[in-house]
Amino acid sequence: MQIEDRLDEFESLARQVDDALSAVQKLDQTAQEAAMKLKESLEAFERYALIRLVRRMRDDPAGKNILLDAVGDPAIYALFLVHGIVKSDIRTRVFQALEQVRPYINSHGGDVELIRVENHTVFVKLHGSCSGCGMSSQTLHNLVEKTIQEHVPEIEAIEVEDEESSGGQGAFIPLSAINLGGDWIQALEYAEMVNGVPYRIHRDDIDAIIVRFNEQVSAYVNRCAHMQMPVDKGLVEGHILTCPWHGYQYDLKTGECRTVPGLRLDPVPVRLEGGSVWVRPRL
Ligand code: FES
Repeated sequence: MQIEDRLDEFESLARQVDDALSAVQKLDQTAQEAAMKLKESLEAFERYALIRLVRRMRDDPAGKNILLDAVGDPAIYALFLVHGIVKSDIRTRVFQALEQVRPYINSHGGDVELIRVENHTVFVKLHGSCSGCGMSSQTLHNLVEKTIQEHVPEIEAIEVEDEESSGGQGAFIPLSAINLGGDWIQALEYAEMVNGVPYRIHRDDIDAIIVRFNEQVSAYVNRCAHMQMPVDKGLVEGHILTCPWHGYQYDLKTGECRTVPGLRLDPVPVRLEGGSVWVRPRL
């Protein structure tokens, strides 16, 4: 079966689950509770059986290889993820943890940026100013640290950098305030970009893709959230990028993975200025 057919089948089955859940939500409360109880019981049974299967396969060298290969299948990976048999990679989980506090931080005129995760240490940068908003910088630091530690307990240290700014300028650094020959890279000429083609920008300090689609431009780290493989040879249709390795699909508008909810591509700061596309490295 072709990968496209398998993905169609996978998506159609996932849609059936969504449709069934929507139908359950329209039932009266007693029926809803009974349906949810049935769902939870079936999931608990599946999880129990899956864990036994995985343990048996892990104990056998040949089975272990088959298992590692099978996890490359998006449907199997999604099933294992749902049942907690595999975890998202550490960077994705830190990113997801930060997404939970971002709306709160944004509402206080700030933002938080994940710089990198290295040897169980997370490096984040805080942007914007909270002066006058009633939330002290220390409270913000504590909130970020507590959230990461709660969601990703294997993290041992968190380095929080404050934005070096004159203060009170809002959450983002305007391009005009930055030395263009420094942090930002003049990557491409917008007019020369072909719609739907991922352009790879690869230097010592950056490995990213830039895609023009529907007169928009997005940039992401050239790394699939599934098995960290490069996505620059992926297929773009409309605003959907399909990873060439195992077919995970991403929405280029948001970076969100449509195959496994909760995964996403890492965004790279991108700007259009003077007819050029500029990106800022964040490996
Ligand atoms: S889908 Fe597996 S690496 Fe992208």
